[in-house]
Amino acid sequence: MSNPYAQHNEQNKANFDHVYDLPDPRGYFEALGSLDYLAPEHGRRLFPTLLERVRSAGGPAGVLDLCCSYGVNAALLGHDLTLGDLYARYASPEIAALSTEELLEADRPFYAECRYSSPPGIIGADSAANAVRYALWAGLLEAGFGENFETTDPPEAFGQAVGGVGLVTVTGGVGYVWERTFNRVLKAVEQARPDGRAPWVATLPARLVDYDPLSDLFSRHGLVTERLSLRTFPQRRFADAAEREHVLRQLAEMDVDPSGKEEEGWYHADLYLSRPAGEASNVPVDELFGTPGVLDY
Ligand SMILES: C[S@@+](CC[C@H](N)C(=O)[O-])C[C@H]1O[C@@H](n2cnc3c(N)ncnc32)[C@H](O)[C@@H]1O
Repeated sequence: MSNPYAQHNEQNKANFDHVYDLPDPRGYFEALGSLDYLAPEHGRRLFPTLLERVRSAGGPAGVLDLCCSYGVNAALLGHDLTLGDLYARYASPEIAALSTEELLEADRPFYAECRYSSPPGIIGADSAANAVRYALWAGLLEAGFGENFETTDPPEAFGQAVGGVGLVTVTGGVGYVWERTFNRVLKAVEQARPDGRAPWVATLPARLVDYDPLSDLFSRHGLVTERLSLRTFPQRRFADAAEREHVLRQLAEMDVDPSGKEEEGWYHADLYLSRPAGEASNVPVDELFGTPGVLDY
């Protein structure tokens, strides 16, 4: 159950810890934007299709976003906004001098104006308690938990909040969260849902992540895991040559071909989807995204 990526995150990956738990998201968007971080934009394009499928299979329509940070995925799934819009907003000179309270005063109407008429209900969890608090205050999350489920069991309130969760999402967080977190979260959702079933789980881990331990864990919760084979997803540029060399070495060990992808200077991610066995055998993950254009961007 130990997390093999904890060491990679601490020693071989650019470190963003200093921007994960600030009082507001400006520093986060500045740091991640400087490396063209794109994972939530892929979530914006992919997760609605999955949520639609969860609903049509009779599952509940709520989303639990793990590693939710300042509510980035909630902002994109619930509002008529792109990740580019968020980068532009939080880098704009007009808000640079605002205090966190003033930024919140400005963010609430900003999000309210472009909220979809029926946004998905999104619950967030992240070990960065300040970030989660910001997302709650900005009105992005239905409920939020600033907790580290790698180290502690979810509080009772978490169990009470997740009974309507049909889809668990993670962008940019697999590796930080690993078997312990997913096990605790899936157990809590199963206990809370009236049908007792595990939710779908959709993640976008970097390609150097060996997903087998998570697939095995998910199968113990009755879920079958597939990897989308149709394309990969550029996640962000490497911060420096050391990061690039480390990733290329890891991929070589895993026999993964980096040409046209990591070799070009970018982390690439795969989409993994875990679903109850019967639902996975109906339509393979590649066919879920068969509508022309959905993956062409
Ligand atoms: C790269 S950010 C991704 C945030 C957001 N999902 C996105 O794509 O913009 C990684 C997030 O993982 C969170 N994180 C790190 N360790 C964690 C843990 N043990 N449990 C929950 N969240 C964690 C960090 O606080 C940070 O918000």
